[in-house]
Amino acid sequence: MRIIKVKNYDEVSVKTANLILGQVNLKPDAVLGLATGGSPVGAYKKIVEAYNNGEVDFSGVTTINLDEYRGIKRNHEQSYWSFMQENLFKHVNVREDHIFIPNGENLNSEEVCREYDKIIENAGGIDMQLLGIGLDGHIGFNEPADHFEKNTHCVELTESTIEANKRFFESKDEVPRQAYTMGILPIVQAKKVIMIANGKNKADIIKKAFTGPVTPEVPASILQMHPDFTLIADEDALSEI
Ligand code: GLP
Repeated sequence: MRIIKVKNYDEVSVKTANLILGQVNLKPDAVLGLATGGSPVGAYKKIVEAYNNGEVDFSGVTTINLDEYRGIKRNHEQSYWSFMQENLFKHVNVREDHIFIPNGENLNSEEVCREYDKIIENAGGIDMQLLGIGLDGHIGFNEPADHFEKNTHCVELTESTIEANKRFFESKDEVPRQAYTMGILPIVQAKKVIMIANGKNKADIIKKAFTGPVTPEVPASILQMHPDFTLIADEDALSEI
């Protein structure tokens, strides 16, 4: 794995955006695996700036998001659908029919998950996967477990995740308890994987994930095995390693 250590969140965002822009310019029909959460917001801003300056064209790009809450309306302001629209999609020329996010409105988990696996397969896999990391080591919503779940599945969110995500909702009670997430397989099969992390609160989990054993108890640890994995993190997030 490669670690790019930078000073602060702004530098994390610039580096991340540059890698994504480089990927799209190199391969205009790239398949991007995209993430939500606080970590990628700055990178998406930089990408929008580059788009407005005519530096990139998304018309051939396909985007496949990692996850979505189960039982949330698409237009709920905290759905990952809305997040992606607000932070990226409505500002660039990605085609609507090239955008994929698990369907959180459909409560039939089996149907949603098998459909999403097909979408990933039909896209031919992911060229560049962007990830954040949860405080419990989750990637997407692959929560700590006794085994790595390969395919798209429905998860019960952990207490740590519900606690961390309540900042986005009016109260903790409103945080959905379940989510659909891409499995571990398409993530590790992505040609390139980029993880972004910033802030002191990520330091412990970064240490566990990348200096500890590879274990499904810390899902991000699997990335130690990936042949082209880059962690872009600020000094605070890297302060324990
Ligand atoms: C969320 C998302 C993840 C994200 C993580 C960290 O719950 N499902 O994809 O990476 O938690 O979020 P943040 O970047 O806000 O710390």
